[in-house]
Amino acid sequence: MYRTNTCGELRLADAGKRVTLCGWLQKSRDLGGMTFIDLRDRYGITQLAFNMETDAQLCEKARKLGREFVLQISGIVKERESKNLQIPTGEVEIIVEELVILNEAKTPPFTIEDNTDGGDDLRMKYRYLDLRRAPVRNNILLRHKMAQQTRAYLDAQYFTEVETPVLIKSTPEGARDFVVPSRMNPGQFYALPQSPQTFKQLLMVAGLDRYYQIVKCFRDEDLRADRQPEFTQIDCEMSFVEQEDVLNMFEGLVKHLFQSVKGIEMESVPRMTYADAMEFYGSDKPDTRFEMRFVTLNKAENNLVSGKSFKVFDEAELVVAICAKGCANYTRKQLDELTDFVKRPQIGATGLVYARVNEDGSIKSSVDKFYDEESLKKWAQACGAEANDLILILAGAANKTRKAMNELRLEMGTRLGLRNKDTFSCLWVLDFPLLEYSEEENRFFAMHHPFTAPKPEDVELLKNGQLASVRANAYDLVINGVEVGGGSVRIFNKELQATMFEILGFSKEEAQNQFGFLMNAFEFGAPPHAGIAFGFDRLCSLFGGAESIRDFIAFPKNNSGRDVMIDGPSAIDEKQLNELNISVKSIG
Ligand code: AMO
Repeated sequence: MYRTNTCGELRLADAGKRVTLCGWLQKSRDLGGMTFIDLRDRYGITQLAFNMETDAQLCEKARKLGREFVLQISGIVKERESKNLQIPTGEVEIIVEELVILNEAKTPPFTIEDNTDGGDDLRMKYRYLDLRRAPVRNNILLRHKMAQQTRAYLDAQYFTEVETPVLIKSTPEGARDFVVPSRMNPGQFYALPQSPQTFKQLLMVAGLDRYYQIVKCFRDEDLRADRQPEFTQIDCEMSFVEQEDVLNMFEGLVKHLFQSVKGIEMESVPRMTYADAMEFYGSDKPDTRFEMRFVTLNKAENNLVSGKSFKVFDEAELVVAICAKGCANYTRKQLDELTDFVKRPQIGATGLVYARVNEDGSIKSSVDKFYDEESLKKWAQACGAEANDLILILAGAANKTRKAMNELRLEMGTRLGLRNKDTFSCLWVLDFPLLEYSEEENRFFAMHHPFTAPKPEDVELLKNGQLASVRANAYDLVINGVEVGGGSVRIFNKELQATMFEILGFSKEEAQNQFGFLMNAFEFGAPPHAGIAFGFDRLCSLFGGAESIRDFIAFPKNNSGRDVMIDGPSAIDEKQLNELNISVKSIG
């Protein structure tokens, strides 16, 4: 038997026991008469003590051990003289009697401690060493717990876990596919699934009724902190349900996860339409941990800014304000910083107008030349601004200005400490537009995917060609401003599905070629169905209080889509290429 206990297990009550532990040498301290070693395994750290007086030979052996050596020790558990109450095992140590070196180790390229000196690249190259560090390991353990609790909840609700294939034909989720050449079908390629969307719909036709899968998805898109080329979804589908049933079922999942993993009792999840989210937050994934809602100052029915000869506002499609509570005392420097912030190219505002509500209720603005106190008071009233508040205003083309104000609102939320990572605010965003117009390609795209059903009351608009106004029975779950999940009620009627493909610019032949299998299936008794998929990595990183999903993936890719540990992707040799019927020239 290698060990009797783990390194996280022993307590004061174990004093006097003879134990055997295995683990890695985290740290050793040589105090002359005594040598202490911190022995680490997945479960924790236990202090080992070697006494020069009682066993000089063993103590000499211990002194020569290097960091990360793999050890097996046996000894007696003893109460420690100087206790470390920061760790659960900190009241005891092991007086070592036997020491076996199971394996030696090279000095690691960075320290294996909570706060390491290793940079990102180095940690990724030696990810197996990085994973030995408690914070990274804890993220992976959290992920495991989330997966187990997800399975427990869905299983109890009669969902069946079904594996769908990884080598498939392209699924149109809007990103680029990763493709795999087929040796047995020269010149042909599989695509890796961007999601199991069509398969889960086929499982509904097959009568599975409730399906889920914790599944890898692959999307060849530009990477960001919350995006990986391969990521994991909790993918779900249900039959004989309406939107309301899906929202309730998965609100239940989210509540169960918060309760079982974090011990948080969630209130029921509020709902907001896409239209309101855009009007009041300038985003379809508003961070609702704080209010600071947008106030439109140039509404047609109540225009508070035009006609005062201030061209910027007169000519703007949208003049929108937020109220930053208690910020009237912002200095010139702070306001300049905010102006620079909104003028950054990625945000793209042309300038920032502000108005301060002073202690005595008087108001000073950066556009006093154009607006008298009476006008400014109307702004303050519209924004709910009181003494000591600061009103920030952006103006310009509607979409761009909304986006910029969204960024400014988030920045102010951060500055004011309103975005605490231990506070969770969930939101359903509903009634997304069915279609989205692309100026570049001069055509409509499915905002979610082509299988999403229009709202029944908007089907007429679809038939009349008022495409931009058609809303979908589609929903997103947003937590703290992160899109954690999305789904929709599906089209289950062959004709409506054919109409959708037509609107999306597929010819009959193209639709048949790409989705014939689904449309044919719909002729064999497809039940009404709906579903959702959660971004599992995003959900884990939110629960773990981190920004980047990479920290919650055991072996993630870097921002160029590379795995720097295995050094992939890589070239393959000519023999392999020949077998796959790919000529070097064509990729060269
Ligand atoms: P959607 O494309 O909205 O829907 O994806 C669902 C959720 O997956 C997460 N996600 C990602 N996470 C990490 N890296 C990525 N590259 C990435 N892309 C998406 C997001 C997102 O909300 N088949 C539909 C679901 C359905 O209709 O049932 C789908 O895939 O959190």
